[in-house]
Amino acid sequence: MTPSIIAIDGPAASGKSTLGLRLAHALGYLFFDTGVMYRAVTWLALNRGMNVNEEHAVATLAETTPIDVAPASASDGRACDVIVEGKDITWETRAREVEAHVSIVAAYPGVRRALSAQQRRIGLRGKIVMVGRDIGTVVLPEADLKIYLDATAQQRATRRYHEILLRGGAAEYEEILAKVIERDRIDSTRDVAPLRAADDAVTIDSDSMDADEVFEKVLALCK
Ligand code: CDP
Repeated sequence: MTPSIIAIDGPAASGKSTLGLRLAHALGYLFFDTGVMYRAVTWLALNRGMNVNEEHAVATLAETTPIDVAPASASDGRACDVIVEGKDITWETRAREVEAHVSIVAAYPGVRRALSAQQRRIGLRGKIVMVGRDIGTVVLPEADLKIYLDATAQQRATRRYHEILLRGGAAEYEEILAKVIERDRIDSTRDVAPLRAADDAVTIDSDSMDADEVFEKVLALCK
C-alpha cells in the first residue's frame, strides 16, 4: 500500500523540497515544507525590528501569529505560498537576512512547540509529504515512510549557489558554504528536536545522484 504520511528530513539544501514537491505531485498528495514556518517567524521578527536573541518575544510571536502555508498560487518557482497577516511573504522568507537568523529562531523550544503542534495536526490528515528537520523523529514519528536526504556540505552549497544564480540573484560560493555549515551546526546541536535521522528512516546520500535519480529511488520505495 502506498504510504500515506511521508516524512523527508535532512540538512540545509539537501534537495528535500525538490524531492518532496515532485513526490507529492506524483502521488496526488499535499506538499508541506515546514521550514517555511520557521522562516516566516524569523521574517516577522526581523520585520518588526525585534532582536532575534530575545527568545521570549520571538516565541510569543510564533504562538500568536497564524502562518498560512497554501499550495502555490503562482508559477514563479515557489513550492507553496506563505501568507502572514494577509500578506504574501513567500519570497521574503528566502532573503539572506532570514536565512542568517532562522536557525537561532528554530532552536527556541517555545517556537518549536507552537509550530510543530500545527504541523502535526496537518500531517495526521494523511496523503501528505512533509519536509523538515524533525518530521520523522518528533512531528510525525508514526510516518509510514521516512527519508533522510543527505549530501556533503560542498555538494549542497554548490546546488544552492546554482539555484540562486538561476533565480537571477548574486551569490558567492564560499559564503554559501560557510552559512550552510553554520546552519547545520546549530540545527544538529540544539537541545530540542535536533536534526538527525530517525532510527527507521531510509538514508539517501545524494552526492553522486541527480534529482531524477533521487526521485525515482524514493518513488520506488512508495510502490
Ligand atoms: O531549504 P533549506 O534546507 O535551506 O531550509 P529550510 O528547510 O527552509 O529550513 C530553514 C531552517 O528552519 C532550518 O535551517 C532549521 O533551522 C529550521 N527548521 C527546523 O528547525 N525544523 C523543521 N522541521 C524545518 C526547518
